[in-house]
Amino acid sequence: MSHDSRAFRNALGHFATGVCVITAQGSDGEAVGVTVNSFASVSLDPPLVLWSLDRASDRFPVFMASDHFCVNVLDGRAQHLSHRLSRKGERSIADEPCAKGKTALPILQDALAHFECKVEARHDGGDHVIFVGRVLSFDFKEGGDPLLFYRGRYRSLSGES
Ligand SMILES: Cc1cc2nc3c(=O)[nH]c(=O)nc-3n(C[C@H](O)[C@H](O)[C@H](O)COP(=O)(O)O)c2cc1C
Repeated sequence: MSHDSRAFRNALGHFATGVCVITAQGSDGEAVGVTVNSFASVSLDPPLVLWSLDRASDRFPVFMASDHFCVNVLDGRAQHLSHRLSRKGERSIADEPCAKGKTALPILQDALAHFECKVEARHDGGDHVIFVGRVLSFDFKEGGDPLLFYRGRYRSLSGES
């Protein structure tokens, strides 16, 4: 990475975000997940959300082949899961407690909120692809404590985690 791209990443890291795991079901039935903080709401009517995925990710073929995905907003206690699903080769969520969504998508049971989506569009985003999803179903838990990410570190609403 060039000096400028390191600075660019550092600058981007000043935007505090939540952390999500995007899940999907591969055509072979493998339940996979990837840690992202690129999730954003797009539209209320119709209900649309977006996130972006690195073209170089080993999960890229699975998400490109899937018509659906689920956005799982992580709880502060899910730091270990977030870390694991951000590592190369660590994409399976087979051992995580999951429920099945309306479209058989794996939904992480401990998520603070989830949005089950049908892929509405995929847009070119440089070295990433931007996935826009139409929300088919969602749910959330009241009074949760979210996992946050700021300047390259996990945080909680009360400080560093
Ligand atoms: C907090 C956090 C947020 C991330 N956000 C994204 C993201 O929005 N898009 C993305 O493609 N990768 C993101 N990553 C990196 C991926 O999780 C990671 O590169 C990938 O899962 C590593 O394996 P792979 O490249 O082999 O798939 C993020 C990682 C962390 C720790």
